[in-house]
Amino acid sequence: MLTVHKTQQRLLTIEDAERLTPKETLYLFKKHINPNLGKLLNMLGFAQSPPVRARGTRLYLKDGTEILDMSGHLGVMNIGHNHPRVLKARREWAEQEQLEFWKFHPSPYQAVLCNNLAQIFPEDLEVVFFCNSGAEANEGALKMAEKYGGIGRDIIVYTDISFHGKTHATLSVSGSEKHQNKHFKLLPGCVEIPYGDAEALERVIAQNKGRMTKSKVCAFIVEAIRTEGVVIPPEGYFRRVREICDRYDVVLIMDEVYSGFGRTGKMFAFEHHGISPDICTFSKAFGGGKGTFAAYIARQDIFQRAYGRINEAALHSSTYNGYGEEVVSAIEAINILIEERLVEGAAEKGEYFLQRLKEVQQKHSIVQYVNGVGLLLCVRFENVAYKLAKLIPGVPEEMFAKLTTGGIITELYERHHILIQTPPHDTNQLLISPPLVISTEEIDRFIEALDDVLNMNLIEIAKKYIKRYFG
Ligand SMILES: Cc1ncc(COP(=O)(O)O)c(C=O)c1O
Repeated sequence: MLTVHKTQQRLLTIEDAERLTPKETLYLFKKHINPNLGKLLNMLGFAQSPPVRARGTRLYLKDGTEILDMSGHLGVMNIGHNHPRVLKARREWAEQEQLEFWKFHPSPYQAVLCNNLAQIFPEDLEVVFFCNSGAEANEGALKMAEKYGGIGRDIIVYTDISFHGKTHATLSVSGSEKHQNKHFKLLPGCVEIPYGDAEALERVIAQNKGRMTKSKVCAFIVEAIRTEGVVIPPEGYFRRVREICDRYDVVLIMDEVYSGFGRTGKMFAFEHHGISPDICTFSKAFGGGKGTFAAYIARQDIFQRAYGRINEAALHSSTYNGYGEEVVSAIEAINILIEERLVEGAAEKGEYFLQRLKEVQQKHSIVQYVNGVGLLLCVRFENVAYKLAKLIPGVPEEMFAKLTTGGIITELYERHHILIQTPPHDTNQLLISPPLVISTEEIDRFIEALDDVLNMNLIEIAKKYIKRYFG
């Protein structure tokens, strides 16, 4: 078929991107990327002036405004934006014209990174597979568990409040997402149980076991601390889970995509529970805030039984896995976390932060719940603007839940120059996961700003916010 190009216009350049106005950018974003996401970002005030620089806890906008990043950009920026050591490693890598794509030669850089990962993970967790996203890491872990289990053992157990990604397989084991996402084909043989209920896990495993055969359950996938809402399972839960998985030879996969690399005041959140998984998946902060990087790490015996034969060397593989620049970024990021004592710092600052959030809760009845472990914290509000949305004709129902928090996020951004996020499955919450390099003065600044916004008329704020929906 003849290819017809759409336009005779010249193609745009990087210099053109630097000259685009916010309005032109939003127009192209809405047209070519996502119209409704563009609309929401505009309503929140984020589309007015683009960041032109980011460093540590701060973003610098084109109009000169300095923004304090309390989201850590979805928990990616544990060592802060553009850490100079990561920039240096990447610059040197590029200047030396290093080979980027290590597929034919074993990479000394990957070797060093895997060695370091094996050092910071406990026991015999030491076989690593690199990939590019949290979902891809979880997919890989689920496949390995299924292969380890062998023919006929393919049931995966997951928890009701959970999120592990948006590919078909990871959606199938994401309790929180599944309730909102009824449009996609899901993997058969995935069984949901309540988060924090170890006996439910044993029941499902036992129900799927013959008298002389192993249970058909091959894996249990779970987060050590549920990120959204900062849900901490009951004391002893994970020790019991570990016992059950050992007894029935079920692979325990723990998802540290958000909680890993110091976020909760331990290098990995499972350390809070005194156990370790059979396969651990991680991403986000792994790439040092520069590389789109992820991986899983498995116990040696799990790997050997799953993929130990010579003809299985490429049974699970990917083109983009372990790109040079991502690998050197990750080596630096882990060393920085340790040398700058950011993990211990997250534990100390997190305690202070939580105590200050509790003070806000005492002052404002709209705050229903606060919780935190390390620098993973959340505040949930009563949705006071909900009734308002119903009174305004034309506001779609999907917007109702977002109204109160949407208004609060917008005021924090526009009035106080603070960037914060709401998690996707409970939009009445603020999920707080700042760079671990945050100072106590910055924590105080956030608390004072939140207090100020909660003192405002939240219905008026919501009205202002919803007006932009129609604008
Ligand atoms: C706990 C958890 N697991 C998995 C994922 C999926 O990661 P990705 O968006 O990189 O696919 C996320 C993303 O937010 C997450 O928070």
